[in-house]
Amino acid sequence: RPVVFSGMQPSSDSLHLGNYLGALVNWVALQDEADPIYCVVDLHAITVPQDPKALHESTRRTAAQYLAAGVDVERATLFVQSHVPAHTELAWVLGSITGFGEASRMTQFKDKSAKQGTEGTTVGLFAYPVLMAADILLYGTQLVPVGDDQRQHLELTRDLAHRFNTRFGDTFIVPEALIPKESARIHDLQEPTAKMSKSAASEAGLVKLLDDPAVTAKKFRSAVTDTGREVRYDPAGKPGVSNLLDILAAVTGRTIPELETEYQGRGYGDFKTDVADAVVERVAPIRARTLELMDDPAELDRLLAIGAARASERAERMLRTVYDRVGFVRRG
Ligand code: TYM
Repeated sequence: RPVVFSGMQPSSDSLHLGNYLGALVNWVALQDEADPIYCVVDLHAITVPQDPKALHESTRRTAAQYLAAGVDVERATLFVQSHVPAHTELAWVLGSITGFGEASRMTQFKDKSAKQGTEGTTVGLFAYPVLMAADILLYGTQLVPVGDDQRQHLELTRDLAHRFNTRFGDTFIVPEALIPKESARIHDLQEPTAKMSKSAASEAGLVKLLDDPAVTAKKFRSAVTDTGREVRYDPAGKPGVSNLLDILAAVTGRTIPELETEYQGRGYGDFKTDVADAVVERVAPIRARTLELMDDPAELDRLLAIGAARASERAERMLRTVYDRVGFVRRG
């Protein structure tokens, strides 16, 4: 069974539709055929300014959303990154074989650091992709289900794995990204040329898994469409409609040509209502289940402790090999 690893940052009050369709749906699907490890990456979340109380809450809430979306602790290892110190320890080693130049070329770093300014940009933010490589490489991961925006980080991970193996002997498996076709990049409903993101300036185009269903429906009904009235897939010319088609295809399992045919000559109104209904039908049970799980934090902590113990054992084993390979003396 291939090892699968992925994670999400607990850095907002809810996961959004991009997180769900770009990654989480694949996480759940992979459980039947793989050995999956799913992590709440709290260490990553502190690389930009954060509120400790909010982080505390959203770490549990993120885990609850994984479970509510169908992550099953019988089949998957589910844990919180900071519970397994090997992640930070391996990140230090990998950071020592990462070029300053190659880390500087990461586009997410460039975008985020532009927002934070020189003094606000932390060393942690710079090292973010190195920590992500450590997450993945610690477990002998073969497949990493993520959205399209993580492609470059995965390339860096692969380069670091190769580099370490060449310098110190075969240690790491070189992982592959698993990126969905239609839903690899979900766009903001109000600004359909921008990726849907938790840091959007306005919430109107950001569809949250934990929004009230009525709010979700309203966001879709007010989604920006394009001039003309044809429901046609054309991401460059009709980014709004194309985004809605991607979303509808992903939640219904139908193909885009099928959907184009169905909405031929029917205008945008019906189409937007149907997308709203389909998304609500899919997301409302996840919201309800998350709220239930949040009512029992002790049970959630118990599940996370089991996951942390399992993950630690595997991670420690890999870290020991790495320490030996780089020449560290074992503690006597
Ligand atoms: P994060 O929390 O930013 O995103 C979590 C996942 O959601 C995907 N995603 C999207 N997919 C489609 N459309 C969108 N608009 C959209 N926005 C976000 C992301 O691609 C991601 O899969 N660095 C990772 C977290 C991480 C990680 C890892 C992932 C840390 N260590 C190890 C995989 C393996 C991230 O940005 O998460």
